[in-house]
Amino acid sequence: MSQFWKPGAEKPRLLDDEEGGVVFLSSSLSSASSIGYGYASIEKQRQRLPVYKYRTAILYLVETHATTIIVGETGSGKTTQIPQYLKEAGWADGGRVIACTQPRRLAVQAVASRVAEEMGVKVGEEVGYTIRFEDFTNKDLTAIKFLTDGVLLREMMDDPLLTKYSVIMVDEAHERSISTDILLGLLKKIQRCRSDLRLIISSATIEAKSMSAFFHARKGRRGLEGVELVPRLEPAILSVEGRGFNVQIHYVEEPVSDYVQAAVSTVLLIHDKEPPGDILVFLTGQDDIDATIQLLTEEARTSKKNSSGLIILPLYSGLSRAEQEQVFSPTPRGKRKVVISTNIAETSLTLEGIVYVVDSGFSKQRFYNPISDIENLVVAPISKASARQRAGRAGRVRPGKCYRLYTEEYFVKEIPAEGIPEMQRSNLVSCVIQLKALGIDNILGFDWPASPPPEAMIRALEVLYSLGVLDDDAKLTSPTGFQVAEIPLEPMISKMILSSNELGCSEEIITISAVLSIQSIWVSGRGAQKELDEAKLRFAAAEGDHVTFLNIYKGFLQSCKSSHWCHKNFINYHAMKKVIEIREQLRRIAQRIGIVMKSCESDMQVVRKAVTAGFFANACYSEAYSQSGMYKTVRGSQEVYIHPSSVLFRVNPKWVIYHSLVSTDRQYMRNVISIDPSWLLEVAPHFYQQHRLNPIH
Ligand code: CDP
Ligand code: MG
Repeated sequence: MSQFWKPGAEKPRLLDDEEGGVVFLSSSLSSASSIGYGYASIEKQRQRLPVYKYRTAILYLVETHATTIIVGETGSGKTTQIPQYLKEAGWADGGRVIACTQPRRLAVQAVASRVAEEMGVKVGEEVGYTIRFEDFTNKDLTAIKFLTDGVLLREMMDDPLLTKYSVIMVDEAHERSISTDILLGLLKKIQRCRSDLRLIISSATIEAKSMSAFFHARKGRRGLEGVELVPRLEPAILSVEGRGFNVQIHYVEEPVSDYVQAAVSTVLLIHDKEPPGDILVFLTGQDDIDATIQLLTEEARTSKKNSSGLIILPLYSGLSRAEQEQVFSPTPRGKRKVVISTNIAETSLTLEGIVYVVDSGFSKQRFYNPISDIENLVVAPISKASARQRAGRAGRVRPGKCYRLYTEEYFVKEIPAEGIPEMQRSNLVSCVIQLKALGIDNILGFDWPASPPPEAMIRALEVLYSLGVLDDDAKLTSPTGFQVAEIPLEPMISKMILSSNELGCSEEIITISAVLSIQSIWVSGRGAQKELDEAKLRFAAAEGDHVTFLNIYKGFLQSCKSSHWCHKNFINYHAMKKVIEIREQLRRIAQRIGIVMKSCESDMQVVRKAVTAGFFANACYSEAYSQSGMYKTVRGSQEVYIHPSSVLFRVNPKWVIYHSLVSTDRQYMRNVISIDPSWLLEVAPHFYQQHRLNPIH
């Protein structure tokens, strides 16, 4: 294994070297208090963060500028400290609230609990958080609120000027998620009506100048000549100097064919050869993370080298609270923590104690092709900017090392300098409906930080029109359009819920919607594939995955929501509890918009029709006598296949509808249901007149 690395390929770069001044910060208050430190010790920890030196400057800039752009290395204290400084300076007085947005839900939860700990309060009181389907805030008490950018957008539907907030900090702006971009465009508009509102745009790496230019460019509005306006409209830019340590970069000599295996070997190599220090491995998603953990656990057990002492933990969205806490809790003496993460640990979360980073060079990214109207999640190469961020995570507490599972030549020549904003590589159906619901009619003329491709916009308008959400003038229809916009799910799911009302199967469709809005209800894991498949067979319905979900839900209720039952059936207990919670909230929302709860009992035909009414655009057919399992999309004649995780894998009914696509060697349909093609004309005549339905006839 040792020849795996190019010896001496050390690149002293990235961050300032501060050898000698190594300080090991305790990573959480609970650990500090358990060994008898009091409040002062947290104060000390806070004061050691790089951002502390800038406290006065930040408060001054926020006071005097409408927008302040703050750039600072990950871990410098932006997210956890700035909202507290603002509160201490009185920005939450008089019942006002300081908001801090994050693109990721897990980051919202983790940061809120950290800040609550630092302030010695309970989450949900002075410090609260809101993510979709989870609200831990208190109307009277919450002064600092962490939330996803998507939730803040939704709040605008009820309160377009976001009047309860005094300061809104749009954090992780460099990630350029769709919601962040929409939010930036809308906040710029709000600023014109609210001179009391302050914005902070913060991130680890941002083209501060272009962001500043975006906020400064105002169509047709200028301050009076020679008059100093307060707040000043020109954004202030503040750069927080980090104090990371030097990180040596190592590349593989030859390209690796299996990054899961390569990651496992590298972790074991580090553990065998390198001094203590935790390891952070960047992979792409729950599936390869679980696979890596399984393999690493096995190899660590069988390896002759000393591989005891490894604590192996996953980090991805959808982890339970307890699992999250393990990741953030300090590593016991004599042990080495290995955290296997998605790119959430790239800039959103800081883990103390990381000295070694293993970077697969990939992440899961959304890609959308407006021509074929296909969007899928693809494991794709990261950008150079991301690779640098990942490496930087190794230099947090002392000089570290980063092992890149790709060659130096690949890094230099092949991967792009920056990522593409999500807005420019996504299906825009949800984005368009949200803007419409907020009364933004001229979507193409909207002031975007990065303009979306017009073809994607047109596709989105077309789909919304055929869903009956938009009318001929591209305005929201009443009531359908407004109802669809009201449900915090993708418009196709919302439409499916509305149709279930007419079809008399709202109980079933709400269950299905809840299941579709979480990642997976199965316990994944290589090795036990056979048992998992057998468990699936117990619930499998001939109609497809959606009906299978109903069987599982029924079984879970009959077991009295037993964790033992879940365990026995390879079902993720935590995910099922989440399904119950989401379902309850969806039921409330549905009833609010006038949907009557009704069960169709065993009539699965109406359930399939309701799914078709929402997802008709995802219809596919298999050619007669096709043995290959190949399907074609009705819309664009694209080749797609049923994902092996589907209960319809190898069953191959002639006509199906899928919920989403994932792309690996092929385009795979996930969550598939069989349909009768005549329903397509019934539920979406307009759509299918335009797109010939030859195979039906
Ligand atoms: O936002 P930024 O990346 O600048 O830093 P931060 O998230 O505010 O983190 C500041 C410090 O708080 C770091 O030293 C983290 O290790 C610590 N922190 C933590 O221990 N646990 C968390 N859940 C979040 C932050
Ligand atoms: Mg942060």
